[in-house]
Amino acid sequence: MKICFIMYPWEGIKAKQDSTIRLVHECARRGHDVAITTPQNLTIRDSITLSDCRTIITHQKISKSITKFYQSVKFENGMRELKGFDVIFMRDNPPLDPFVLNFLDSVKDEAFIVNAVNGLREANNKIYTAAYYDPEKEIIPITHVSKNIDYLLRIIQQSDQDKMIMKPLDGYGGRGVIVIEKSAKDNIRSLLEFYINKSKGESNYVILQEYVEGAENGDVRVLMLNGKPIGALRRKPAKGDIRSNISAGGSVEQYKLTKKDRVLCDTIGKKLVKDGIYFAGLDIISGKLIEINVLSPGTIVDINKLNNVKLQVDIIDFLEKVVAENEIKKGNFISKDIYEN
Ligand SMILES: Nc1ncnc2c1ncn2[C@@H]1O[C@H](COP(=O)(O)OP(=O)(O)O)[C@@H](O)[C@H]1O
Ligand SMILES: [Mg+2]
Repeated sequence: MKICFIMYPWEGIKAKQDSTIRLVHECARRGHDVAITTPQNLTIRDSITLSDCRTIITHQKISKSITKFYQSVKFENGMRELKGFDVIFMRDNPPLDPFVLNFLDSVKDEAFIVNAVNGLREANNKIYTAAYYDPEKEIIPITHVSKNIDYLLRIIQQSDQDKMIMKPLDGYGGRGVIVIEKSAKDNIRSLLEFYINKSKGESNYVILQEYVEGAENGDVRVLMLNGKPIGALRRKPAKGDIRSNISAGGSVEQYKLTKKDRVLCDTIGKKLVKDGIYFAGLDIISGKLIEINVLSPGTIVDINKLNNVKLQVDIIDFLEKVVAENEIKKGNFISKDIYEN
Protein backbone atom coordinates (compact mmCIF):
# COMPACT_ATOMS: atom_id res chain seq x y z
CA MET A 1 0.00 0.00 0.00
CA LYS A 2 1.12 3.54 -0.72
CA ILE A 3 0.44 5.81 2.24
CA CYS A 4 1.13 9.47 2.90
CA PHE A 5 1.02 11.00 6.36
CA ILE A 6 0.26 14.73 6.30
CA MET A 7 1.59 15.60 9.71
CA TYR A 8 3.41 17.94 12.03
CA PRO A 9 7.14 18.29 11.27
CA TRP A 10 9.16 15.10 11.73
CA GLU A 11 12.08 17.00 13.29
CA GLY A 12 10.01 18.08 16.30
CA ILE A 13 8.73 14.60 17.22
CA LYS A 14 9.38 13.20 20.67
CA ALA A 15 9.62 9.56 19.62
CA LYS A 16 8.92 8.09 23.05
CA GLN A 17 5.52 9.76 23.43
CA ASP A 18 4.37 10.22 19.85
CA SER A 19 1.39 8.38 18.35
CA THR A 20 2.00 9.20 14.68
CA ILE A 21 5.49 7.73 14.58
CA ARG A 22 4.03 4.43 15.74
CA LEU A 23 1.70 4.42 12.74
CA VAL A 24 4.55 5.35 10.39
CA HIS A 25 6.77 2.67 11.90
CA GLU A 26 4.09 -0.01 11.60
CA CYS A 27 3.65 0.78 7.90
CA ALA A 28 7.41 0.80 7.28
CA ARG A 29 7.83 -2.48 9.17
CA ARG A 30 5.27 -4.08 6.84
CA GLY A 31 7.18 -2.89 3.79
CA HIS A 32 4.63 -0.37 2.56
CA ASP A 33 5.52 2.67 0.48
CA VAL A 34 5.44 5.34 3.21
CA ALA A 35 5.76 9.09 2.67
CA ILE A 36 5.49 11.88 5.18
CA THR A 37 4.81 15.52 4.51
CA THR A 38 3.40 18.65 6.15
CA PRO A 39 0.51 20.95 5.15
CA GLN A 40 3.24 23.52 4.43
CA ASN A 41 4.43 21.42 1.50
CA LEU A 42 1.12 21.01 -0.34
CA THR A 43 1.36 22.41 -3.85
CA ILE A 44 -0.71 22.66 -7.02
CA ARG A 45 1.24 22.55 -10.26
CA ASP A 46 -0.61 22.60 -13.57
CA SER A 47 -3.81 21.41 -11.87
CA ILE A 48 -2.09 18.50 -10.16
CA THR A 49 -1.96 18.29 -6.36
CA LEU A 50 1.49 17.38 -5.10
CA SER A 51 3.46 17.54 -1.93
CA ASP A 52 7.15 17.67 -1.21
CA CYS A 53 7.48 14.36 0.61
CA ARG A 54 10.07 12.43 2.53
CA THR A 55 9.65 8.86 1.37
CA ILE A 56 11.06 6.04 3.46
CA ILE A 57 13.59 4.23 1.29
CA THR A 58 12.51 0.63 0.82
CA HIS A 59 14.93 -2.27 1.38
CA GLN A 60 16.48 -0.76 4.48
CA LYS A 61 16.46 -2.48 7.84
CA ILE A 62 13.59 -1.14 9.94
CA SER A 63 14.62 -1.14 13.56
CA LYS A 64 12.16 -2.68 16.04
CA SER A 65 12.82 0.10 18.53
CA ILE A 66 10.79 3.22 17.77
CA THR A 67 13.53 5.53 19.08
CA LYS A 68 16.19 3.87 16.92
CA PHE A 69 13.83 3.91 13.93
CA TYR A 70 13.29 7.64 14.46
CA GLN A 71 17.02 8.32 14.63
CA SER A 72 18.16 6.09 11.79
CA VAL A 73 15.42 5.75 9.15
CA LYS A 74 16.51 6.96 5.73
CA PHE A 75 14.33 9.01 3.43
CA GLU A 76 14.50 10.23 -0.11
CA ASN A 77 12.98 13.62 -0.79
CA GLY A 78 10.86 14.70 -3.70
CA MET A 79 7.50 15.87 -5.00
CA ARG A 80 4.80 13.20 -5.16
CA GLU A 81 1.31 13.35 -6.58
CA LEU A 82 -1.26 12.91 -3.84
CA LYS A 83 -3.60 10.93 -6.03
CA GLY A 84 -0.91 8.28 -6.39
CA PHE A 85 -1.42 7.24 -2.75
CA ASP A 86 -3.93 4.60 -1.65
CA VAL A 87 -4.24 6.23 1.76
CA ILE A 88 -3.74 9.76 3.04
CA PHE A 89 -3.60 9.94 6.83
CA MET A 90 -4.07 13.41 8.34
CA ARG A 91 -1.94 13.64 11.45
CA ASP A 92 -1.48 17.37 11.78
CA ASN A 93 -2.02 19.22 15.03
CA PRO A 94 -5.14 21.31 15.50
CA PRO A 95 -6.32 23.88 14.59
CA LEU A 96 -7.03 22.71 11.08
CA ASP A 97 -6.13 25.07 8.25
CA PRO A 98 -9.28 24.94 6.06
CA PHE A 99 -7.17 25.32 2.90
CA VAL A 100 -5.70 21.87 3.54
CA LEU A 101 -9.19 20.49 3.01
CA ASN A 102 -9.37 22.16 -0.39
CA PHE A 103 -6.12 20.47 -1.43
CA LEU A 104 -7.53 17.14 -0.26
CA ASP A 105 -10.84 17.76 -2.06
CA SER A 106 -8.95 17.47 -5.31
CA VAL A 107 -7.91 13.85 -4.60
CA LYS A 108 -10.75 12.57 -2.45
CA ASP A 109 -12.08 10.24 -5.14
CA GLU A 110 -8.69 8.64 -5.71
CA ALA A 111 -7.27 8.15 -2.21
CA PHE A 112 -8.81 6.87 1.01
CA ILE A 113 -8.47 9.81 3.38
CA VAL A 114 -8.48 9.41 7.16
CA ASN A 115 -10.58 11.16 8.05
CA ALA A 116 -12.72 11.90 4.99
CA VAL A 117 -12.56 15.51 3.88
CA ASN A 118 -16.24 16.18 4.52
CA GLY A 119 -16.00 14.55 7.93
CA LEU A 120 -13.03 16.72 8.85
CA ARG A 121 -14.82 19.79 7.54
CA GLU A 122 -17.91 19.02 9.60
CA ALA A 123 -16.31 17.78 12.78
CA ASN A 124 -13.13 19.78 13.28
CA ASN A 125 -14.67 22.00 15.96
CA LYS A 126 -16.96 21.47 18.92
CA ILE A 127 -20.22 22.34 17.11
CA TYR A 128 -20.22 18.79 15.74
CA THR A 129 -20.71 17.31 19.21
CA ALA A 130 -22.87 20.16 20.52
CA ALA A 131 -25.31 19.80 17.64
CA TYR A 132 -25.65 16.02 17.92
CA TYR A 133 -29.38 15.42 18.25
CA ASP A 134 -30.00 14.10 21.74
CA PRO A 135 -33.45 15.26 22.87
CA GLU A 136 -33.45 13.11 26.03
CA LYS A 137 -30.04 14.55 27.02
CA GLU A 138 -28.68 11.05 27.51
CA ILE A 139 -25.33 11.53 25.81
CA ILE A 140 -24.60 15.22 25.34
CA PRO A 141 -24.34 17.61 28.31
CA ILE A 142 -26.57 20.68 28.10
CA THR A 143 -24.58 22.88 25.74
CA HIS A 144 -24.98 26.36 24.30
CA VAL A 145 -22.93 27.67 21.40
CA SER A 146 -23.34 31.38 20.88
CA LYS A 147 -21.71 34.77 20.69
CA ASN A 148 -24.76 36.58 22.04
CA ILE A 149 -23.51 37.91 25.38
CA ASP A 150 -26.97 38.77 26.77
CA TYR A 151 -28.24 35.29 25.93
CA LEU A 152 -25.28 33.60 27.59
CA LEU A 153 -25.60 35.81 30.70
CA ARG A 154 -29.26 34.86 30.95
CA ILE A 155 -28.41 31.16 30.69
CA ILE A 156 -25.88 31.43 33.50
CA GLN A 157 -28.31 33.35 35.71
CA GLN A 158 -31.15 30.87 35.07
CA SER A 159 -29.04 27.74 35.56
CA ASP A 160 -29.75 25.60 38.67
CA GLN A 161 -26.08 24.69 38.79
CA ASP A 162 -23.78 27.00 40.71
CA LYS A 163 -21.04 26.52 38.12
CA MET A 164 -20.77 25.98 34.37
CA ILE A 165 -17.97 25.32 31.89
CA MET A 166 -16.96 27.86 29.27
CA LYS A 167 -14.57 27.12 26.41
CA PRO A 168 -13.62 28.47 23.01
CA LEU A 169 -15.35 26.75 20.10
CA ASP A 170 -12.16 25.78 18.31
CA GLY A 171 -9.92 25.16 21.32
CA TYR A 172 -7.79 22.09 21.92
CA GLY A 173 -5.48 20.69 24.58
CA GLY A 174 -7.64 22.21 27.31
CA ARG A 175 -6.78 25.78 26.27
CA GLY A 176 -9.23 28.36 27.54
CA VAL A 177 -11.46 25.82 29.33
CA ILE A 178 -12.67 27.48 32.54
CA VAL A 179 -15.29 27.04 35.25
CA ILE A 180 -17.69 29.95 35.63
CA GLU A 181 -18.95 30.20 39.18
CA LYS A 182 -22.37 31.84 39.39
CA SER A 183 -21.24 33.60 42.56
CA ALA A 184 -18.67 35.54 40.55
CA LYS A 185 -21.53 37.30 38.76
CA ASP A 186 -19.89 40.72 38.67
CA ASN A 187 -17.10 39.28 36.53
CA ILE A 188 -19.09 37.22 34.10
CA ARG A 189 -20.01 39.91 31.55
CA SER A 190 -16.39 41.02 31.34
CA LEU A 191 -15.24 37.42 30.92
CA LEU A 192 -17.79 36.76 28.16
CA GLU A 193 -16.72 39.94 26.38
CA PHE A 194 -13.10 38.89 26.65
CA TYR A 195 -13.79 35.45 25.13
CA ILE A 196 -16.18 36.67 22.44
CA ASN A 197 -14.99 40.07 21.23
CA LYS A 198 -11.88 40.20 19.14
CA SER A 199 -10.33 43.37 17.79
CA LYS A 200 -11.63 45.18 14.69
CA GLY A 201 -15.22 44.10 15.10
CA GLU A 202 -14.47 40.37 14.81
CA SER A 203 -15.91 37.94 17.32
CA ASN A 204 -15.65 34.31 18.45
CA TYR A 205 -18.34 31.80 19.34
CA VAL A 206 -18.02 30.26 22.76
CA ILE A 207 -19.36 27.10 24.33
CA LEU A 208 -21.21 27.30 27.60
CA GLN A 209 -21.83 23.87 29.01
CA GLU A 210 -23.32 22.15 31.99
CA TYR A 211 -20.56 21.17 34.42
CA VAL A 212 -20.60 17.38 34.30
CA GLU A 213 -20.38 15.98 37.81
CA GLY A 214 -17.52 13.55 38.22
CA ALA A 215 -15.08 15.64 36.17
CA GLU A 216 -12.94 16.00 39.30
CA ASN A 217 -12.05 12.31 38.88
CA GLY A 218 -10.95 12.87 35.32
CA ASP A 219 -12.32 12.10 31.90
CA VAL A 220 -12.14 9.04 29.69
CA ARG A 221 -10.46 9.04 26.29
CA VAL A 222 -11.71 6.36 23.91
CA LEU A 223 -10.04 5.74 20.56
CA MET A 224 -12.59 4.78 17.92
CA LEU A 225 -11.61 2.90 14.76
CA ASN A 226 -14.23 2.37 12.07
CA GLY A 227 -17.02 3.01 14.57
CA LYS A 228 -15.73 0.73 17.34
CA PRO A 229 -13.73 1.41 20.49
CA ILE A 230 -10.22 -0.04 20.24
CA GLY A 231 -8.76 1.33 23.46
CA ALA A 232 -9.39 3.67 26.35
CA LEU A 233 -7.78 5.29 29.35
CA ARG A 234 -8.69 7.66 32.14
CA ARG A 235 -7.01 11.06 32.36
CA LYS A 236 -6.92 12.75 35.73
CA PRO A 237 -6.51 16.49 36.14
CA ALA A 238 -3.53 17.91 37.97
CA LYS A 239 -4.23 19.22 41.45
CA GLY A 240 -6.02 22.56 41.31
CA ASP A 241 -7.17 22.17 37.68
CA ILE A 242 -10.44 21.06 36.09
CA ARG A 243 -8.91 20.03 32.78
CA SER A 244 -7.83 16.44 32.28
CA ASN A 245 -5.85 17.01 29.07
CA ILE A 246 -2.36 15.54 29.25
CA SER A 247 -1.00 18.75 27.72
CA ALA A 248 -2.61 20.61 30.63
CA GLY A 249 -0.79 18.46 33.20
CA GLY A 250 -3.24 15.54 33.46
CA SER A 251 -2.00 12.03 34.24
CA VAL A 252 -3.21 8.70 32.85
CA GLU A 253 -4.47 5.45 34.32
CA GLN A 254 -6.06 2.24 33.15
CA TYR A 255 -9.76 2.25 32.41
CA LYS A 256 -12.29 -0.38 31.41
CA LEU A 257 -15.30 0.87 29.47
CA THR A 258 -18.59 0.58 31.35
CA LYS A 259 -21.80 -0.68 29.76
CA LYS A 260 -22.99 2.93 29.46
CA ASP A 261 -19.75 3.94 27.73
CA ARG A 262 -20.18 1.07 25.28
CA VAL A 263 -23.72 2.14 24.40
CA LEU A 264 -22.43 5.66 23.82
CA CYS A 265 -19.57 4.39 21.62
CA ASP A 266 -21.98 2.28 19.64
CA THR A 267 -24.39 5.16 19.02
CA ILE A 268 -21.70 7.70 18.17
CA GLY A 269 -19.65 5.12 16.25
CA LYS A 270 -22.42 4.71 13.67
CA LYS A 271 -22.53 8.46 13.06
CA LEU A 272 -18.75 8.67 12.81
CA VAL A 273 -18.57 6.02 10.12
CA LYS A 274 -21.46 7.60 8.22
CA ASP A 275 -19.56 10.90 8.27
CA GLY A 276 -16.28 9.31 7.15
CA ILE A 277 -14.61 9.69 10.53
CA TYR A 278 -12.79 6.39 10.73
CA PHE A 279 -10.35 7.29 13.47
CA ALA A 280 -11.33 9.57 16.35
CA GLY A 281 -10.84 10.17 20.04
CA LEU A 282 -13.88 10.62 22.26
CA ASP A 283 -13.70 12.52 25.54
CA ILE A 284 -16.29 11.19 27.99
CA ILE A 285 -17.14 12.24 31.55
CA SER A 286 -19.62 10.19 33.59
CA GLY A 287 -21.05 8.65 30.44
CA LYS A 288 -21.55 12.04 28.71
CA LEU A 289 -19.76 12.92 25.50
CA ILE A 290 -17.70 16.10 25.90
CA GLU A 291 -15.78 16.19 22.67
CA ILE A 292 -14.93 14.24 19.50
CA ASN A 293 -11.32 14.72 18.37
CA VAL A 294 -11.05 14.00 14.67
CA LEU A 295 -7.84 15.62 13.54
CA SER A 296 -4.96 13.83 15.17
CA PRO A 297 -5.97 12.06 18.36
CA GLY A 298 -3.04 10.91 20.48
CA THR A 299 -2.89 8.59 23.52
CA ILE A 300 -1.89 5.53 21.44
CA VAL A 301 1.37 5.26 23.37
CA ASP A 302 -0.29 5.53 26.78
CA ILE A 303 -3.02 3.01 25.98
CA ASN A 304 -0.40 0.63 24.56
CA LYS A 305 1.59 0.83 27.78
CA LEU A 306 -1.36 0.57 30.16
CA ASN A 307 -3.00 -2.36 28.37
CA ASN A 308 0.05 -4.03 26.86
CA VAL A 309 -1.32 -3.71 23.32
CA LYS A 310 -0.22 -2.21 20.01
CA LEU A 311 -3.09 -0.18 18.67
CA GLN A 312 -1.08 0.81 15.61
CA VAL A 313 -1.38 -2.81 14.46
CA ASP A 314 -5.20 -2.62 14.49
CA ILE A 315 -5.18 0.73 12.71
CA ILE A 316 -2.85 -0.35 9.90
CA ASP A 317 -4.71 -3.69 9.57
CA PHE A 318 -7.87 -1.66 8.98
CA LEU A 319 -6.21 0.51 6.32
CA GLU A 320 -4.82 -2.53 4.52
CA LYS A 321 -8.27 -4.07 4.45
CA VAL A 322 -9.85 -0.93 3.00
CA VAL A 323 -7.16 -0.70 0.33
CA ALA A 324 -7.62 -4.38 -0.53
CA GLU A 325 -11.37 -3.89 -0.86
CA ASN A 326 -10.86 -0.84 -3.05
CA GLU A 327 -8.56 -2.87 -5.28
CA ILE A 328 -11.27 -5.51 -5.65
CA LYS A 329 -13.75 -2.79 -6.63
CA LYS A 330 -11.30 -1.53 -9.24
CA GLY A 331 -10.90 -5.10 -10.51
CA ASN A 332 -7.21 -5.28 -9.69
CA PHE A 333 -5.46 -8.48 -8.60
CA ILE A 334 -5.75 -9.24 -4.93
CA SER A 335 -3.86 -11.85 -2.93
CA LYS A 336 -5.90 -14.65 -1.39
CA ASP A 337 -4.99 -14.24 2.28
CA ILE A 338 -6.86 -10.92 2.52
CA TYR A 339 -10.19 -12.72 2.19
CA GLU A 340 -9.37 -14.92 5.11
CA ASN A 341 -9.94 -12.51 7.99
N1 LIG B 1 -18.78 20.13 30.65
C1 LIG B 1 -17.68 19.83 31.35
N2 LIG B 1 -17.76 19.46 32.65
C2 LIG B 1 -16.64 19.18 33.36
N3 LIG B 1 -15.39 19.22 32.86
C3 LIG B 1 -15.24 19.58 31.56
C4 LIG B 1 -16.37 19.90 30.74
N4 LIG B 1 -15.93 20.22 29.51
C5 LIG B 1 -14.58 20.10 29.55
N5 LIG B 1 -14.15 19.70 30.78
C6 LIG B 1 -12.75 19.42 31.17
O1 LIG B 1 -11.89 20.15 30.32
C7 LIG B 1 -11.15 19.26 29.44
C8 LIG B 1 -11.01 19.86 28.06
O2 LIG B 1 -12.28 20.05 27.47
P1 LIG B 1 -12.62 19.62 25.97
O3 LIG B 1 -14.02 20.02 25.70
O4 LIG B 1 -12.26 18.21 25.77
O5 LIG B 1 -11.69 20.61 25.14
P2 LIG B 1 -10.22 20.45 24.47
O6 LIG B 1 -10.49 20.46 23.02
O7 LIG B 1 -9.47 21.65 24.91
O8 LIG B 1 -9.65 19.14 24.93
C9 LIG B 1 -11.94 17.96 29.47
O9 LIG B 1 -11.11 16.88 29.16
C10 LIG B 1 -12.46 17.94 30.90
O10 LIG B 1 -11.44 17.52 31.79
MG1 LIG C 1 -10.59 17.24 24.80
